[in-house]
Amino acid sequence: MDTLQLQGRLRMKPTINVCDGCCCGRVNKSNMAVPTTELKALWNEHNLAQHVNLRVTSCLGPCSRANVTLVSTSEGRTWLGGIASEDHYQTLVDWAQGVAEQGIHHPLPSSLDSLRFTPA
Ligand code: FES
Repeated sequence: MDTLQLQGRLRMKPTINVCDGCCCGRVNKSNMAVPTTELKALWNEHNLAQHVNLRVTSCLGPCSRANVTLVSTSEGRTWLGGIASEDHYQTLVDWAQGVAEQGIHHPLPSSLDSLRFTPA
């Protein structure tokens, strides 16, 4: 990685990819609905888009871990799975607000640690 690539990575705006695909968010598969409307509204209400990208995606791959979210930051990628609570999504909103206030190196909260996984 050259210096320009490294500088770009260090300034990389974080991105949250919230899966709302064939399994994630499908209540008929016993997964909670993904609150996409609420998330987008909160992103707008708190002007988070300039600090953290929010993307609602189709299947990210590891469906067995539904509901899945992938957080990409300059520190790397963090897979979160088994999201089954509005509180988890709210925690992502809170984290994005932390990034807006404290910068792109604001860490994900430890309350999400139990959801972390590494895809096979
Ligand atoms: S539908 Fe979310 S990982 Fe496949």
